[in-house]
Amino acid sequence: MDEKRCYIKTFGCQMNEQDTVRLTQLLGRDGYRPTEDPEQADVILVITCSIREKAENKVYSLLGRFQPLKRKHPGLVIGVGGCVAQQEGERLLQKAPYLDLVFGTHNVHKVPALLAEIRRHGGRLAETRFYDEIPTDGLFDADGRLKAYVTIMQGCDYRCSFCVVPFTRGPEVSRRSDDVLAEVRALAAGGTKEVTLLGQTVNSYGKKAPGELTLTRLLEAIEAVDGIERIRFTTSHPNDLTDELIGAFGRLSKLCEHLHLPVQAGSDRVLARMRRPYTREAYLDKVRRLRTRCPEIALSADLIIGFPGETDEDFGQTLDLLRQVRYDSLFAFRYSRRPNTDAAELPDQVPDELKAARHQALLDLQRGIAEERARAQLGTVQEVLVEGPSPGDALKLTGRTRTNRIVHFPGPPHLIGHLARVRITQALAHSLTGEWVPSA
Ligand code: SAH
Ligand code: F3S
Repeated sequence: MDEKRCYIKTFGCQMNEQDTVRLTQLLGRDGYRPTEDPEQADVILVITCSIREKAENKVYSLLGRFQPLKRKHPGLVIGVGGCVAQQEGERLLQKAPYLDLVFGTHNVHKVPALLAEIRRHGGRLAETRFYDEIPTDGLFDADGRLKAYVTIMQGCDYRCSFCVVPFTRGPEVSRRSDDVLAEVRALAAGGTKEVTLLGQTVNSYGKKAPGELTLTRLLEAIEAVDGIERIRFTTSHPNDLTDELIGAFGRLSKLCEHLHLPVQAGSDRVLARMRRPYTREAYLDKVRRLRTRCPEIALSADLIIGFPGETDEDFGQTLDLLRQVRYDSLFAFRYSRRPNTDAAELPDQVPDELKAARHQALLDLQRGIAEERARAQLGTVQEVLVEGPSPGDALKLTGRTRTNRIVHFPGPPHLIGHLARVRITQALAHSLTGEWVPSA
């Protein structure tokens, strides 16, 4: 087989990261080796994100930089996948005449065939069909990754008024649980110790498939897989957080004590306009139940600042919600108008300066909360899955606690790839430092 190289640049969420892993594996079977250098590549693929305008702009400026490479290397194929590709389809081929391939979010599995077609016959292709099943090829690359994502569903049936995901990822489709379990078993056999189950509203898993397992039942089945030490799942929707699922925390020994539960806003008026089908009180009630069931659980969330019509009072309610919930970490985004979404047409768009000021106020409040939450870890002994040397300090190792906090600590290299016990000696908002506690 002749030696071919592919360069893949990925923007956006874990779904895109997982699509990239899949693509790398699929192309590897066709003899493409990954390269870090676009100049060396025979194929350049960009996996794109369109969740906010900024993310989308980054894609266009990057693609522009690849254009001159085509002159240097006439056989070079440039393709675009991900959410911008899905959103724009054929139009992308018109906008960027140097592009050869556009593939939508449901068409990752088709990329090898599409590339072969282009290399053999030339031409420019766009494939953005949606399928109502997640394609299975039964070939799971267990390449020894310590941590792996496993897609269990794709798409979203909610219609939050700000969000492009339902347009770019299609309606909700769950993957068959036997296929998910086959992949998890293959990963475990290959050395993977932590799996994160992925879906846009991962906790509605199976809802539309009669007879399919619920997420809780799926977690139980994965708990029984030898070799897997830790299970996580993301992202959950508050409406689908059932008591059954809450009860899994603290009961399933491999299920990590962390939940990402996007809230989006703390004001009922804004939640209704966002078409988030819960109230502030219903959300807070779920948080209370989680904490009652599993007091050590770490919570994180996404929220949007400056949704159209957000008043100072609405924003004050969001700050107040942060004080009540006390998240361990938080992702706050300034509202960005997105094509096709209803909120883009709403009057009362909030000016950028006001969004910026609110963002700053929110970050200041959250920093204090995160620091306090981190300080509460001081002196505790945490289980850490050791991933490798610390990026900033080769004498230290790094890994994450079950609650998803990063920990750096001095320790012997043989701990890499294993669970270690670490006593926390220093706590910053975003990382902890500790000392290894060898087991007796
Ligand atoms: N279920 C998804 C949510 C998708 S988008 C998930 O897997 O995380 C991730 C976050 O981006 C959302 O929770 C929301 O807070 C933010 N977001 C979505 N649309 C946005 C927009 N138009 N402007 C700003 N932030 C947005
Ligand atoms: Fe987007 Fe709302 Fe679905 S944030 S992914 S439409 S739950």
